[in-house]
Amino acid sequence: MPPDHSAIAFTESYKSTDNNMPTHTIALLAGDGIGPEITAEAVKILQFVETRNDVRFDLKPALFGAAAYFETGKSFPEETIATCDKADAILKGPIGLSHEESKKIPVDEQPERGGLLPMRKRYDTYANFRPVYLPRALAHFSPLRPEIIGDGIDFIIIRELVGGLYFGRKDSGIDDAGRRYVHETLEYNEDQIRRALEIAFQLAQKRKKRLHNVHKSNVLKSSVLWNEVLEEVRSDYPEIAVEHILVDAAATYLCLEPTRFDVMVMENMFGDILSDQGGGILGSLGLMPSACIGPEKSYYEPSHGSAPDIAGQGIANPYSMLGSVAMMLEMSFDMEQEARNLWQAMQAVFSAGFTTPDLARRGDDEKKISTAEFGDKVVEELGRLPPP
Ligand code: IPM
Ligand code: MG
Repeated sequence: MPPDHSAIAFTESYKSTDNNMPTHTIALLAGDGIGPEITAEAVKILQFVETRNDVRFDLKPALFGAAAYFETGKSFPEETIATCDKADAILKGPIGLSHEESKKIPVDEQPERGGLLPMRKRYDTYANFRPVYLPRALAHFSPLRPEIIGDGIDFIIIRELVGGLYFGRKDSGIDDAGRRYVHETLEYNEDQIRRALEIAFQLAQKRKKRLHNVHKSNVLKSSVLWNEVLEEVRSDYPEIAVEHILVDAAATYLCLEPTRFDVMVMENMFGDILSDQGGGILGSLGLMPSACIGPEKSYYEPSHGSAPDIAGQGIANPYSMLGSVAMMLEMSFDMEQEARNLWQAMQAVFSAGFTTPDLARRGDDEKKISTAEFGDKVVEELGRLPPP
């Protein structure tokens, strides 16, 4: 399958002109499957934001994922690494292939193992923000009953992203009894835990001053250490109300009473699983953007996969990619008002009854529009909001 470069071609026709404007360099990794289509919409938004702010975005397209592998033999090629190293932030589309197609790539070069995890490691992006945001305009997408959704759901999962089982020591072979075995190690040191918790406390401080600490200390020693460090960090944040919840109980309460959560913090693997459950609450992972924050560099990406089954048809909703742009504007470029405007503009498009075919739920009263039309409508709505 040849990689689709439509988003990349789109950005190449665009050059910033005014050299005196403050400029942010963004590595633009369109990725695989629906990646290029939704990335093109992100570019539209950035171009619009430029027209009314004293800022320029210097977009540097680069290959990443399976598209990169087929062209260069690497999922995260040297040239892309260099582009990302030089960028102020990275905006990344989804990566990956269908189960069958992935078999064409050696296991260690598959986009997740050969691209995504090395990127997380390289930039040490230890704090992953995954907002589960279901305002009224999106409520009909959720499988939850209206009385459970209440006035809306709005919490953020902070997932530690570069430790634990994902990056622990691994070993496999044949044991003394001739059986195949594998070891994967859940490793954390106190510094890794502390910095993730700090981020969660800081966020709780800015929001409702409530933090749910998700752990499994009745079984895992890693959770015992996690909770010890939490008690130390907590002394710097006396006004935050901390609640402890076991990860299995958290899974239950995410269904039964999601409105009880505001900020949740957890280790890597728990966060992988519960954030997908967050996508289930929203009705689609297509409604979950994310930010992966490191000490020097951050990257922003939709939480979902590359949806190869619907790629190239113009029916994928770009919300998670545009939400990732909103998070980048706020967290990397301090453009909080434009970020808020972007969230609001996206809700306005849904409130007006528009949706893309991949998300359509309500039936005839929904007006189905393409990926590109959705992006256009978001720009239109943005234009209605007062500039910052
Ligand atoms: C995610 C994804 C990744 C993960 C995969 C693609 C490696 O599921 O970002 O949640 O497991 O972290
Ligand atoms: Mg996941």
